[in-house]
Amino acid sequence: KKRTSISTLHKMKQKGEKFATLTAYDASFAQLFDEQGVAMLLIGDSLGNVVQGLDDTLGVTTDDIAYHTRCVRRATQGALIVADLPFMSYATPQQACENAAMLMRAGAQMVKLEGGEWVCDTIRTLVERSVPVCAHIGLMPQSVHVMGGYKVQGKSEEDAARILRDAKAVEAAGAQLLVIECVSKKVAKAVTEALSIPVIGIGAGPDTDGQVLVMHDMFGISAGHTPKFSKNFLIETGNMQDAVARYVSDVAEGRFPAAEHSFD
Ligand code: KIV
Ligand code: NA
Repeated sequence: KKRTSISTLHKMKQKGEKFATLTAYDASFAQLFDEQGVAMLLIGDSLGNVVQGLDDTLGVTTDDIAYHTRCVRRATQGALIVADLPFMSYATPQQACENAAMLMRAGAQMVKLEGGEWVCDTIRTLVERSVPVCAHIGLMPQSVHVMGGYKVQGKSEEDAARILRDAKAVEAAGAQLLVIECVSKKVAKAVTEALSIPVIGIGAGPDTDGQVLVMHDMFGISAGHTPKFSKNFLIETGNMQDAVARYVSDVAEGRFPAAEHSFD
């Protein structure tokens, strides 16, 4: 089986084919997701919340992400493997290179980092040194204490315009993929249409090229609170394999996210 590559996702965007992605942290779930055709698996720093029982993602280290990346990589054959650079692991381009190298050696094919215009130097440095980058804008959980909570982003005209500027800036800096979290469907649609790289949404409405969910949220078993934009796919299917298959086909066919999972 051939692994999904970044060019696979770019072609899907060009053809208008929507794709489903999930977070994964361990071999058993990663294998299940891989078998159900999940295009990309993200070893997210959400592991702080759903695996480590922390209140936020700030306690997660690059070593933690590397460990879980190895677990996921070994158990999969088809999915593109993306690993989060955690809080303060990319404060300088130099640190970003060292920590990204650790994640790539652990089996990641791409790293993800949070930020817009201000991380562009870091994105350029990583890409020039052969590390593919996924940027993450909108709600950025590593900035929760700056934002004063987890809130929908881009509500004013000014903030919406800044998000669009950030999206264009990270693409121009060389990011090959973009995650946009917790913004209105209007903002996400504008960003998706403005960029030629694939845009993956979470709490960002139905118009992005791909979707991502934290795996525990889609099974309805998160230790903390389950966000409005998520859906428990286990209720209507009754087993994990079918829940994941349903998520994948609901995204591909445009049934998820529905209006009740989106922000206006
Ligand atoms: O850490 C994570 O799980 C993420 C996704 C929600 C995009 O960054
Ligand atoms: Na993350």
